[in-house]
Amino acid sequence: MATKGKFQAIKGTRDLLPPETELWNRVEQTAREVFGTFGFGEIRPPIFEPTELFARAVGGETDIVSKEMYSFEDRDESSVSLRPEATASVCRAYIEHNMHVLAQPVKLYYMGPMFRRERPQKGRYRQFYQIGAEVLEAQQQGQSDSAKSTSKDAAVDAEVIEMVMAFFAKLELDGVQLEINSIGCRACRPKYVEALRSELLKVKDRLGPDSQRRIDTNPLRVLDSKLESEQEIIAGLPRIGDYLCETCAKQYAEVKRQLAVREVAYKENWRLVRGLDYYMRTTFEITASGLGSQNAVCGGGRYDGLVEILGGMPTKGIGFAIGEDRLILSLLEAGKGDAAKGRDVYLAWMGEKAQDPAIRAARALRQAGFRVELPLVEQKFGKALGQADKIGARYALILGEDEVASGQWTLKTLGDGTQQNLTEAQLLEFLKKQRA
Ligand code: HAM
Repeated sequence: MATKGKFQAIKGTRDLLPPETELWNRVEQTAREVFGTFGFGEIRPPIFEPTELFARAVGGETDIVSKEMYSFEDRDESSVSLRPEATASVCRAYIEHNMHVLAQPVKLYYMGPMFRRERPQKGRYRQFYQIGAEVLEAQQQGQSDSAKSTSKDAAVDAEVIEMVMAFFAKLELDGVQLEINSIGCRACRPKYVEALRSELLKVKDRLGPDSQRRIDTNPLRVLDSKLESEQEIIAGLPRIGDYLCETCAKQYAEVKRQLAVREVAYKENWRLVRGLDYYMRTTFEITASGLGSQNAVCGGGRYDGLVEILGGMPTKGIGFAIGEDRLILSLLEAGKGDAAKGRDVYLAWMGEKAQDPAIRAARALRQAGFRVELPLVEQKFGKALGQADKIGARYALILGEDEVASGQWTLKTLGDGTQQNLTEAQLLEFLKKQRA
């Protein structure tokens, strides 16, 4: 938006800048490593897709699709939308590339920007970033709800949750809390929804306008309400756990058993329903500290049948997405950012004769992987040290005409002010040792 001729990033979007982007890269690198150890490969789907894909997958009545998408008519008059999430895209890609012929399950992860037109606040943006993973498995005929497949599904659920928890543990994220629930399946959930609706109708006039509306549209979402005045009423409502069919109940019990085997701590939350329509059975959310009201850093669950809804064959699915912005916020709040990493070496050269050796030294150091700042014009000694300090350099390498003549360079450790004289070979040796 232009104000007085100046441009600003659009509301709800922001620039990610150094040194924070260093932390973003570290987080993403860690995700690649951890997910790689679980056998996941990366998928990079496009950032816009047909609007209808999200409407069908996420649900036309959800807030995400009905209010928050950035949609526009393309020139051929088809409606396209910036992706508000990526599960729909991954399922579309699974169908489009016939991934059902690959070894099953197919395990994919992704990272990148998502777009939702929400009211911006701390931890909530209109362009935000997710790191997500999905496990898809084409169903063999007649196998869908056998005891064996129920326990296999539970194992997949538990492993996916274990993976995201391992990732958070590796990042030393603080205050991580996992909540899980089962929201049933096509067979048992409708009965629960009916029971819920009829109870809600009895207390309708004690509910706020949002919840009143949801009695008709989606009574499950009433359980999500944060309204203080509704909490007592909600606590007395029927619980999904009492309505699960035998298969769902068995699967949920097995997920919990397997989480325990994997030493993953969890809390059950019968009110955890999630805001996207594609879920069934296992759902989960993870919160972390330092985030205020937007404290969910990860949400996910099982979505058997979604691929079929999008035109593919019967396929099981489970996945999650982490809000990377929130993850980074939480790490920074806990002082685990390690983001302010400066340069390793500031190369303070002085005198005409020192310039070329300085250029060559910078080249050698950079080839060895050090971060080097090489001033492009000569600087006075005091200014050079001031600059080295400002950019957070660990060492100043001082190269004057004396040093050039003697072949001995002066290395100053900026933290304690100590100095030593070293040949170029000794210098490299010393820096490598310090790095290790
Ligand atoms: P979701 O719960 O809508 O799920 O989003 C997952 C996470 O993305 C949230 O827990 C939050 O951390 C982050 N997030 C969502 N909206 C925003 C926002 N406006 N600003 C910042 N962060 C945000 C999904 O998107 C599903 N596709 C997850 C999934 C994958 N389920 C199965 N597979």
